[in-house]
Amino acid sequence: MVNLVMRLSLCFVVFAVICELGECVRTSKKIYVNLESVQGCFRRLNATHQIGCASKLGGNVGIIHNIETDEDLTWIVDYGPHAPYITIMSSLIFNVTNVQRLKDSGKVNGILVSHVVSNKSITPLPPDGFSPDHSCPLDAFGMYRNDSDYKNCKSVVWNPVGSSMMYQDFGIPIFVLQNETEVNSAIYDCYEKFNKPNPDGTSRKYPLCAAELKSGMFAAKDSVTCIRRTNHIVNLNVDQFCDPLGDQNVFATVKEISSEKSLPFDHVIVAAARIDSFTLFEHVTPSADNDITGLVTLLTAAFALSMSGAKESIQNSPDAKDIMFTFFQGEAFDYIGSSRMVYEMEKNRFPNTLDDTNVYLHPVNLSHISHLVEVNQLGFGERNLSIHTDPISRNSSQIDTQVKEMVTKLKEFGNEYDISVKLAGESQPLPPGSVQRFLLKRSIPTVMLTDHQREFTNQFYNSRFDLAENIKANYSESLNQSSEYDYVTPQAENLARKGALLAQFLYSLSTGDKTYISAVELEPMVTHMLYCFLYNGTCDLFQTVVDKADVEKLNEEPYPFYVSVARNTNYVSGLTKKLLAYFLGVQIEADNSDNCKAQNSTDKLYEYYWMQGPLDENGTRHGMCYRSTAAYSEAKSPVFLDEMSGYDWASGEYSSWTESTWDTFSVRLFLVPSEQFQMLTLGIGIAVLLCSHCLIFFISRKAGTIFSVPPPSPVSTAN
Ligand SMILES: *[C@@H]1O[C@H](CO)[C@@H](O)[C@H](O)[C@H]1NC(C)=O
Ligand SMILES: *[C@@H]1O[C@H](CO)[C@@H](O)[C@H](O)[C@H]1NC(C)=O
Ligand SMILES: *[C@@H]1O[C@H](CO)[C@@H](O)[C@H](O)[C@H]1NC(C)=O
Repeated sequence: MVNLVMRLSLCFVVFAVICELGECVRTSKKIYVNLESVQGCFRRLNATHQIGCASKLGGNVGIIHNIETDEDLTWIVDYGPHAPYITIMSSLIFNVTNVQRLKDSGKVNGILVSHVVSNKSITPLPPDGFSPDHSCPLDAFGMYRNDSDYKNCKSVVWNPVGSSMMYQDFGIPIFVLQNETEVNSAIYDCYEKFNKPNPDGTSRKYPLCAAELKSGMFAAKDSVTCIRRTNHIVNLNVDQFCDPLGDQNVFATVKEISSEKSLPFDHVIVAAARIDSFTLFEHVTPSADNDITGLVTLLTAAFALSMSGAKESIQNSPDAKDIMFTFFQGEAFDYIGSSRMVYEMEKNRFPNTLDDTNVYLHPVNLSHISHLVEVNQLGFGERNLSIHTDPISRNSSQIDTQVKEMVTKLKEFGNEYDISVKLAGESQPLPPGSVQRFLLKRSIPTVMLTDHQREFTNQFYNSRFDLAENIKANYSESLNQSSEYDYVTPQAENLARKGALLAQFLYSLSTGDKTYISAVELEPMVTHMLYCFLYNGTCDLFQTVVDKADVEKLNEEPYPFYVSVARNTNYVSGLTKKLLAYFLGVQIEADNSDNCKAQNSTDKLYEYYWMQGPLDENGTRHGMCYRSTAAYSEAKSPVFLDEMSGYDWASGEYSSWTESTWDTFSVRLFLVPSEQFQMLTLGIGIAVLLCSHCLIFFISRKAGTIFSVPPPSPVSTAN
């Protein structure tokens, strides 16, 4: 026994000594440098495919190589003796062709993309544009998917710079690195110091600097497989493999839609915008042109109707058509929100919820809709506005007449606000947009308003470069202003005009009359909204409309415009709903949050919102209660409903996107020591292994002597 203990200790002492000499300590302290400013690309799945990025579950390791030029790239592909590599790529070099070349070489294990928005030398805008979306976005789910003249963007390629990068299954981890210090430390302290090839092009000797990228994904193959596995597993209370994408649409009608009153056909004007967009990497850039300009313009129109008193005159006129302000979520992923709303309308369930047994609201279905008006990207072309119409529904002369009337009105109001309003070619189809999901089911007079006559003006559609500064909505010149959102940017002026025009147009469609709406008076609100969405959510407007409990969430930066998974509500949806309630609702008496919200249980026609309210002169907010028709409607694809159990997933009728779950996202740098040291480590490893085998052999032989067997316990363990 003593003998054994001595042998054991000796073994460890020897190991420890070797370890000390052999730089074991250096290995452990050898310093993993964690990079914190990273955002990973992750895996999403639809009915038939998986897309995006993933590392092995334990992480991918490779030697760092910085790629700035084609030569750097060729060096890895043709020579690169220390594969696998992890490459650092600048915004100019990270494109689909180069990534494909690296992948095909089989020598690259992961990619770090430098993206530092404030530093033009690290992140220059790609001069030829960059969009990871398709060149013909959403075509397979739009109204022209089966039309021989218009499908596949035969008539107009909307997004010519689109590379479809978003839809590749990269099979390696890819991260963006957003902090300048960390980008520099990866490039200078790691790559230049240890790895940069010698001037003659030969590789450096060990130690080399390496990175480990971890973004292991739990779901694989496709949504069908992973939902099936998840359903199976959930019964055993284990984690999910994937979650459906989805959220809540936000809508508010100007009049209330009580089930006690009749709702005539062709009586509701749907004014729509989308809330969401995507980028390869989540939480990187708020999508300025697509989609904040559309979102803000539609909110501005709601505000304008209210501010000008036009709202009341619509409410008080029984013949005036209702206007439903509608904000769709999940549109970037095959029209999740709009297709769900149309589905509910077809079932005569909208706006009531599935499990509502008492129907207080009159169902609104497609036959109640009189007009569709959608605003999309509006940030470019300051004094220009393009109208798009649908040539197929215009084949009906009745629809065509109404569309022409809409166009005439828009042009007339364009003159009023000094905006040049142009009709895009009449034989040109609608750009990708939510209204297409309605038109698939019923012909309705429709216009879509954008900043592009043909292909997108925005060269950075659904990408991390869709920046505020591209649309002149940045605030740098205003630093000496007391309050940043008092500075009217050129973009705020642009959207104030377009918001005023839109409000006039909607009012006119509703009542047939004109009203007075001043664009200049809208500017402070537009400026404020742009500031809040693009720069800092802890702004006065957002603080005014949220409940105290939600103040913390305002800090997020930048705002999440990715729809994300359905089980959490994206708080951009929440803010949109609050703003809409604030703009279209009325303030009512209630001295605290409980009194206010209590009315939700008795009055089902409206929702009651408790808001913090504006700051008084002493800097306190006293709270206020708003009553409004603003509400959510589910923006989750119908394919995930139980009632759709017989649905053929591969039919491509509805969006089937899910997001894989994962455990960690991490990126760390470390030094890989010389080969001799690696051999030594291996040697020690083998020695320890042999040693322990001997030990086990020895112990098991002598087990009887070493462990004396205790006498059987008299107490029964049964219970
Ligand atoms: C397209 O048209 C074909 C033939 O008319 C039809 O079988 C198919 O279901 C249509 N697809 C969609 C998505 O509407
Ligand atoms: C946002 O504004 C709030 C209030 O003015 C301020 O405290 C906070 O630091 C700002 N956040 C950022 C990221 O600028
Ligand atoms: C799923 O996505 C892939 C990649 O974009 C696409 O090729 C395929 O058609 C999609 N499948 C369905 C059913 O939408």
